Amino acid sequence: MSAAPTEPKTATGTPPEAEMPGAGPAPAGRLAVVGLGPGPDAWLTGEAADEIAAATDLVGYLPYVARCPERPGQVRHASDNRVEINRARQAIALARAGRRVAVVSGGDPGVFAMAAAVVEAIGTDPQPADYDFAVLPGVSAMQAAAARLGAALGGDFCAISLSDNLKPWSVVEKRLVAAATGDFAMAFYNPASKARPDGIHAAFAVLRRLKAGTTPVAFARAVGRPDEAMVVTTLAEAEPARADMATLVLVGSSQTRLVTGPGGRTLLLTPRSVEAER
Ligand SMILES: C[S@@+](CC[C@H](N)C(=O)[O-])C[C@H]1O[C@@H](n2cnc3c(N)ncnc32)[C@H](O)[C@@H]1O
Repeated sequence: MSAAPTEPKTATGTPPEAEMPGAGPAPAGRLAVVGLGPGPDAWLTGEAADEIAAATDLVGYLPYVARCPERPGQVRHASDNRVEINRARQAIALARAGRRVAVVSGGDPGVFAMAAAVVEAIGTDPQPADYDFAVLPGVSAMQAAAARLGAALGGDFCAISLSDNLKPWSVVEKRLVAAATGDFAMAFYNPASKARPDGIHAAFAVLRRLKAGTTPVAFARAVGRPDEAMVVTTLAEAEPARADMATLVLVGSSQTRLVTGPGGRTLLLTPRSVEAER
């Protein structure tokens, strides 16, 4: 990230009032939930880089905080992955105390990430929110993966997290069936982890019952990072074990097809147009 530190600004773009003891209320803090994109700095928005540079405090899951350049005087509150709501409450407390807080989150913060935890914590906070609040969007993994492949999510699509940490597997299964019968292209987040190696196998079993074996499938791993790997295959031949926590899995609709691109490159097209059913 190359953005230089900037003066803290309020949401209206004006500098905060000078601190004058006894001259009025404590200076308002700011709480921004910031999307870092899926990996490379080139996919970090300028707005996000400015917010991170201006923050007095960075709050987030350790690998995401580690992606932000260290700045003198900036306090880094890095925590473990499974404490999202505590992290959100900590960020609110800091903002209420007048700090300028950036909660950093991978990809887009609104997609299976910290914005939901922060808004939930705000919703259950008994005190009024007296600080600036903003969610700054980022490039989500499904956008990055779809872009690498051309237009894999060019028509109607849905995003499903295959993790059953926060919802029962029966709900995941119901949504997979709905997505398949609705003929959506699909983006699967959190397809597998060491603790959850089986969900992706169960998900493919559901899809194989409901969709053609020729349906294009892509495993997009570590998109935008040095170890990026893309595999395009079919539903019949896809090897679910290929997916790990760094993988975004794309499954086509009945309209999705392969296109040979410049230099023989394989592209995926989910067209925007769908013919009327007869
Ligand atoms: C907790 S979710 C966070 C998603 C994030 N908020 C976003 O918008 O991309 C983590 C999952 O996102 C996907 N993911 C994140 N970064 C990725 C990347 N660079 N390449 C492929 N998949 C990625 C993986 O499926 C991973 O298990």
